[in-house]
Formats: sequence, structure tokens, C-alpha cells
Amino acid sequence: MPVNSFEDEVFLTGIDSNVLKRIFSFARPHRKWIFFFLLIILVTTVTDAAMVYINKIMIDQAVIPGDLRKVIGFLELYGVMIVFQAFSVFGFIYLAGLISEKISFDLRQKMFDHLQTLSLSYYTVTPVGWIMSRVNSDSVRISDLISWGLIDSAFSTFNILIATVFMMIINWKLALVVVFFFPIMVYIGWQFRKRILKEYREVRRLNSKVTGAFIENISGVKVVKSFQREERNLKEFNQLSQPMFRSAYRAARWNALFLPSIQLISSIILAIIIWSSDWQVSGGLMTIGGIQAFVNYTLSMMWPVQDLARVYGELQQSIASGERIFSLLDTTPSIQDRDDAYEPEHFCGEIEFDHVNFFYDDGDRRNVLTDFSLKVNHGEMIALVGSTGGGKSTIVNLTARFYEPKSGEIRICGRDYREYTMESIQSRIGMVLQTPYLFSGTIRENLRYGRLDATNKEIEQAAVKVGADDFIRKFPNQYEEQVGEGGSLLSVGQKQLISLGRAVLADPEIFIMDEATSSVDTLTEHLIQVGMERMLEGRTSFVIAHRLSTIRRADRILLIEDGKIAEEGSHKELLRLRGKYYHLYTSQFREEKEQESSGTII
Ligand SMILES: Nc1ncnc2c1ncn2[C@@H]1O[C@H](COP(=O)(O)OP(=O)(O)O)[C@@H](O)[C@H]1O
Ligand SMILES: [Mg+2]
Repeated sequence: MPVNSFEDEVFLTGIDSNVLKRIFSFARPHRKWIFFFLLIILVTTVTDAAMVYINKIMIDQAVIPGDLRKVIGFLELYGVMIVFQAFSVFGFIYLAGLISEKISFDLRQKMFDHLQTLSLSYYTVTPVGWIMSRVNSDSVRISDLISWGLIDSAFSTFNILIATVFMMIINWKLALVVVFFFPIMVYIGWQFRKRILKEYREVRRLNSKVTGAFIENISGVKVVKSFQREERNLKEFNQLSQPMFRSAYRAARWNALFLPSIQLISSIILAIIIWSSDWQVSGGLMTIGGIQAFVNYTLSMMWPVQDLARVYGELQQSIASGERIFSLLDTTPSIQDRDDAYEPEHFCGEIEFDHVNFFYDDGDRRNVLTDFSLKVNHGEMIALVGSTGGGKSTIVNLTARFYEPKSGEIRICGRDYREYTMESIQSRIGMVLQTPYLFSGTIRENLRYGRLDATNKEIEQAAVKVGADDFIRKFPNQYEEQVGEGGSLLSVGQKQLISLGRAVLADPEIFIMDEATSSVDTLTEHLIQVGMERMLEGRTSFVIAHRLSTIRRADRILLIEDGKIAEEGSHKELLRLRGKYYHLYTSQFREEKEQESSGTII
């Protein structure tokens, strides 16, 4: 499967043995358990078959001669075997559960570790839902295959083999007749499974589309209504759900036909056994007990055939799961430390873009930055302004080395930053983004992510500095208030303030704010500004802000357009220039004045 295909269900026909090998390599650390587990299954199936055989002896030696004492003796032996079997069944089911959990744990751990090493670019092209499915459902499928799938196939195979051995012991000629029908039964079972699976897969594929359409319609219900698209959407919806119904119907039909077909074949086998029993018994070739045992063995082989067919079907799905997991595990981080990368002793905020060219690999590969050069002195506050899509975020993402230049160099403190380790750069850059991310937990815990060894007092000081203390104190639990999953119980503005506080606490050498205050009101933004000013002093900072009033104090303002610096200078210089910045500023200034006089604060 190509790595970038995010279709979940891929129709597979063959079985890729390499993937299978790799899947079972996850079983290797647990091979001791698996060995025990197979052993117990073997013992159980042998007991199963032996019980049928004992039944045969009982009929021939006790029931037919009418020896009641012997019958009771056999029944006692039977009872002991049943208890023994109960224990072994418990044993292997327990072990299967254990192995399954161990393997899915290993798989998730491995994926999690790997996901942490991947670069930001991976996350911009890979849907989060896709990653979550790998971690959740695919890992379960693989661990189920190695545990429950293994039970079913081992149980079935042992069952069939051992029953065959016992039949051979009783009457090898008749046993050969039964064995002859066997591959036919397996083949038919397998053919049915294949068809059923194909239809089910189609149902699932269509179902996810229908669900998608549902979600889109419900979450966009206002848009749907206001654009009067209901009728069209309904038509599209029908177009999806009708083929889904037809596939589900076909699957149900194959399913219904499956069991009778297998039963038909075993009936033929049974008929042969019974038809031959007449002359077999009278000719002394077989006993009544032997015939009965044959019937039992034949019947007991029906389920294993079904199970094998089912496991085979699941095997294909598991292989698809395996392929997706491995495609995740095999993704190499596009940005990696060089072998000789080091952690610099001195780190300063002097940053230089030297003829940098850059484009996004997943975009249309047109340069976003072309021959971009910029020298930022230590301690300088740089403001980036300009219309959306101009390349402002790209500039700061490159600075933080979430991406690297395609050509040209970015130097920090005079050296190509690729000579440093990623860790050393990213730990010295504090970044606050437009869409802040909080982890579930308390406000205090979230602030503490900035610096894990910060004291409570330092945490609160940081919150005061960014103007978050006020609103935090209004919560019933104050700093101990839960923020909900992803911070969902807070407003975007509050989340921005907390992530600002986090960055302040981290005390980084370089500070980046990418529209970090876009969701707070003008008044709060002004307060943050005052608080941040002291904080930014002596540090290099990049500030991207939509409201130009917040960046007036920047040492240098760069107006970015199409990945180029269109204008450059201090606020005053740029106003004097009467160029684009002047126009932008005056029109925004007028808007703000109008809003103030009409009493609205955005
Ligand atoms: N992750 C990405 N993948 C592909 N293209 C991107 C990505 N991020 C931004 N771009 C493109 O790069 C250009 C610059 O975007 P960006 O740096 O986000 O601009 P700004 O921050 O000034 O709004 C835009 O054309 C945008 O579509
Ligand atoms: Mg941006």
C-alpha cells in the first residue's frame, strides 16, 4: 500500500508472506507463552478425540454385551476427562488473552515511540484519524490474529489431524474416503468466506462514506440550509446508501448458503459411512462402536473447516492492518539530526536566513520562500505582517526547524543550524501558536509543561505576566481547575493566555508568537503586550499579529508578500514611507476607531 493512501480498507486477494513474517516477529518475545498455549491446545484436542474413541470401546465392550459395571467404569473415566478438559480450556483462553494484551501493548508502544520522532511535516499530511486507527483498531487486529486466530487455526488443524489419525486406527480404508472429501469442504468454505468478506468490505467502505456524509451534513447543517442544498445532499446520500444495502444483502445471502453447503458435503460423507456400515459390520470389518466413532469424527470436523475459512479471511484483514502499521513504523522522519550534530555551549538569538529557498513537499511544490535573506540581531524584536498566505508562518516554522530550507542556509549564532541537535534548538525556542493545545489536566499542570521543575510561585508569576491570573482566579478551583480534553472547557483566548504563560515559564532564548493573541479581546491583548514587553527584552523574538497596534514597538517590521520582504523598517519609518504598511495600518486604525465608538470590542 502506498504510504500516502489513507483509504482504510484496501481490497487484498493474496497473502504477503513478508508482512506475515513481520507480524509474527511481534510474537517472538512471547514465544515461551505461545509454546505453552499450543501445547495446551494440542492436549485438549487429543483428549477430545480420545473421548470419542473411549466411547467406541464402551459401546463395543460394555454397552453391547450389556455389562453395566463396565459402563459405569467408562462413565467415570469420562467424567475425569471432562474435568481435565475444563482446566485446559481455561488455560488456553487465559493465555490467549494474556498474549493478545502483551502484543497490542508492544505494538502501541512501538508506534508511540516512533510517532514522537516524526517531523511536523508528517502530521500536516497525515490525518490524525488515520493515525488513531492504526494505534487503536489495527494493533488490536494484529494481536487478535496472534492470539485468537492462532487458537482457532491450531485447534482446527489439530482437530482434523488427530481425528484422522483415530479414524485410521479404526478403519484406514474408510478414513481415506473421509479424507478425500476434506479438501473439497475446505475449498468450498474458503470460497464462501472470500465472497462474504468482499461484500462486507464494500459495506464498510460505503458505510464510512455515508457516515462522512452524515457528519458533514450535521455539522454543516446551517450552511446546508442557507444554501438550500438539502435536496442535492439527500440525492447524494441515497446514491451511497443503496449500493450499501445491495452489498449487505448479498453478504447475507452468501452467509445463509454457507453452512448448508458444508452440511451437505458432510451428509454425503455420513451417508457413505452408514451405507457401508451394513457390510462392514456384518463382514466383521468394523464394530458398531467404530461406526459411531466415525460419525462423530466426521461431524466434529465440520466446525474446524468453518473456523479455518474464517481465520483465513481474517488473516487477509490482519495483513492489511499489518501493512498499515508497518507503513507508519517505516516512515522516516524527514528532518533528522546529522550524525555529528552537537549541543552548542553558547547559544544566542542571532539568526540569519541566507538565500533560503523553501517549498512544502505536499503542496504544489512552488517556492513559498524564494532567495529569502534576513539577518536578525540578538535581542531584536521582529514583527512579521502581511496578508494571509504570504509566508509568515513558514518563516517562523523554518526558524524553529520544523522544516528545513531546500537550499540556502539558516544560521543561528553564526553556524548552520543543522550542525546542532534538534533538541538543542527546539528547547531554546518558545513558540505560541494561534491554535494553542492544552492537555487534559489542571491549569497548573498545563502551565508547568513550560518548565517541569517550576515552583507554584513561578507558575503563578508567569500567569500574572501574561494577564492570565485574573481569569484563572475566577474559577472555583483556581489553578486546580480542570481544562477538559484538549482544553475544551476553556475559550480559545484563555487557552492562548495559558500557552503564553507556559512559554514565559520556559524562559527561552528565542520567542515566537504566531498570531498568539488573535483570539483575545483588544484590551487583554494590550495587557499582554505590556506584560510581554519586559519579558521580550534582551531576547530575540518574532511576533506575527493581525492587529498592527500590537506590534508598533517592534524593532523592525517586515511586510511579507509572496515570500518576500516587501517593506522593512520601524513603525515610524514605514509610516513615513506611505507604502503598503501605511495603508494597512491606517485602514485598520480607522476600523478600530469605528468599533470603539460603536461600543464593540472584538
Ligand atoms: N503545511 C503546509 N503544506 C503545504 N502548503 C502550505 C503549508 N503551510 C502553508 N502552506 C502554503 O504556503 C504558503 C504560505 O503560507 P503561510 O506561511 O502559512 O502564510 P501566512 O502565515 O503568512 O498566512 C501558502 O500558500 C500556503 O498555502
Ligand atoms: Mg500564518
